[in-house]
Amino acid sequence: MQHTPVLYQEALDWLGVRPGGLYVDATLGGAGHTRGILAQGGRVVAFDQDPQAIARARALDLPNLTLVEANFRHLESELGRLGIHQVDGILADLGVSSFHLDDPSRGFSYQKEGPLDMRMGQGGRTAGQVVNTYSEEEIARILQEYGEEPRARRIARFIVQNRPIHTTTHLAEVIRRATGYRSAGHPARRSFQALRIYVNDELGALEALLGAAERVLGPSGRLVVISFHSLEDRLVKRFLRKSLVLVPLSKKPILPSEEEKRLNPRARSAKMRVAERKGGPG
Ligand SMILES: C[S@@+](CC[C@H](N)C(=O)[O-])C[C@H]1O[C@@H](n2cnc3c(N)ncnc32)[C@H](O)[C@@H]1O
Repeated sequence: MQHTPVLYQEALDWLGVRPGGLYVDATLGGAGHTRGILAQGGRVVAFDQDPQAIARARALDLPNLTLVEANFRHLESELGRLGIHQVDGILADLGVSSFHLDDPSRGFSYQKEGPLDMRMGQGGRTAGQVVNTYSEEEIARILQEYGEEPRARRIARFIVQNRPIHTTTHLAEVIRRATGYRSAGHPARRSFQALRIYVNDELGALEALLGAAERVLGPSGRLVVISFHSLEDRLVKRFLRKSLVLVPLSKKPILPSEEEKRLNPRARSAKMRVAERKGGPG
């Protein structure tokens, strides 16, 4: 399935793309936002830690686009390797793409059978390693902290009792049994989110990206971050509140329209925060 960019027009408008300006798309994905920036005359350096996303974009052979296969936590050093020390804007549209969710072999979906992987990049531990080797206490902590799962302890106990667990659907079934089928939405949703965030250290990478934005954005450069759960949004909000160089441009997060939420279910939980680097004219 195509990946439909969330808050597409809003993100481009807030980024304030100028012809000839240099922008970082920290999360290339299906290249929707990147193509928007290019169409407005911007030059783009696009990051993705997923080699498949990079390969798909490379095949498009778009002018004014430089592709970097790396985690955006290394944004500053990777830009440095390209001889870039300042950019006009940074966009991050966090999380997984539809390509990830639709491909059962990546292990992100609790509805499609696949191996318990959940890594967006290639290195590091898999969700299967966490589920099958971590202690009950560690698993409970991960589900609680990154999934805000109220039944974390009980789910962790069921997981340990049912090991080894090698597939997404087996894990989803174990969670379903642990929660006794009482849950708003799918009972495995929070636990899968927690494992994904932990496996990819998504919050650590986001924090590093925000720090890099403070140093790499030029005067009046804009930072646009689209997040999909409260942990990320809270992190961005708190970071901006404390930052001495990035000024939030809107107090409240920018949300998708009712129309967008109706057309694209993935947009329902999206929140966008925008900030500007101090030091522009005026
Ligand atoms: C929601 S999608 C982006 C979709 C994109 N804006 C579009 O319009 O098609 C997020 C993408 O960012 C990548 N990603 C997530 N976290 C990352 C990180 N820390 N470093 C690099 N890429 C990351 C994922 O692999 C995924 O392809």
